[in-house]
Amino acid sequence: MTSIAPLVDQFQRRITYLRLSVTDRCDLRCSYCMPERMTFLPRKDVLSLEELHELALGFIARGIRKIRLTGGEPLVRRDMVELVQALGRKIGDGLDELTLTTNGTRLAEFADDLAAAGVRRVNVSLDTLDRAAFQRLARRDSLPQVLEGLQAAREAGLAVKINAVALKGINEHELPEMIAWAHGQGHEITLIEVMPLGEVEEDRFDHYLPLLAVREQLEARWTLRESDHRTGGPARYFDIAETGGRLGLITPLTQNFCEGCNRIRVTATGQLFACLGGSEQVDLRAALRSGEPQAALSRALDAAMRIKPERHHFTIEEPGAAPALSRHMSMTGG
Ligand code: 5AD
Ligand code: SF4
Repeated sequence: MTSIAPLVDQFQRRITYLRLSVTDRCDLRCSYCMPERMTFLPRKDVLSLEELHELALGFIARGIRKIRLTGGEPLVRRDMVELVQALGRKIGDGLDELTLTTNGTRLAEFADDLAAAGVRRVNVSLDTLDRAAFQRLARRDSLPQVLEGLQAAREAGLAVKINAVALKGINEHELPEMIAWAHGQGHEITLIEVMPLGEVEEDRFDHYLPLLAVREQLEARWTLRESDHRTGGPARYFDIAETGGRLGLITPLTQNFCEGCNRIRVTATGQLFACLGGSEQVDLRAALRSGEPQAALSRALDAAMRIKPERHHFTIEEPGAAPALSRHMSMTGG
């Protein structure tokens, strides 16, 4: 299928990748992500299965070729498998890839259904392999379920990428071990710098770990070769000779990555955010609930292309600073 009017923003970036959050709820409470007593979006405002489907079709008609379903935790949504099945039918018919970002707690239950619906890869967020540290960080004792989930994903033939947020004093010392473990399991792994999104109890500055320092630490131990592997995303990749695996580094704070941005984000209530680090937004739910949803949606997407900013501007430079944005990552799924 050729798209009639592709989505191109004012900086000539072609937008082909949608990250669609299907719920902002989560069964974990990672302390850098959300407070224990998180206020979630009112259920009545969340898009229905039919609306999410319609929305995705509207994006595909405008040249979106890859959809990543995210949360919060997408697998806590009850009709999630139905949505994946419905979108899975578009693979090869407009869509090149349908993927999922999950915390893995329910993967054991859903890995087979996901694979059967056409999902080939999942990103699993996992910051530590130490059960006690996991429980402190995620405020739930769920590491065993996540490990079972990973096992199920492997058995279902899903490629897994581990995403770990690098946190000073929490998993800093464990990162080489996690990388070796992930590569030993045949998984890619990407490290991410913590971003100042939404109020949490702690000061993120206390745990902020610049990845350049981590890279130096890894280079003292292993041979890292810069890879020209690109996914159109923010990660820069390295091949590690000793482990035979690939390592991604996402450095929103120390090295800006916005120039090649190909993506757009939509929350579970249908708010399009043109940038992860900005507040530029377009209400797609209003478009969806109008008399002519597809036409209204298409116009809304044109509006989004006009407001997509050149780059984000967040920093973590000083202790005690307010988050750059009041919106939590669990609304836009990263
Ligand atoms: N900074 C960086 N990463 C975050 N995530 C959630 N909140 C933040 C934050 N403030 C990560 C999760 C998951 C991904 C969807 O986003 O750990 O890997
Ligand atoms: Fe849930 Fe992911 Fe946030 Fe952890 S980081 S609380 S798993 S949405």
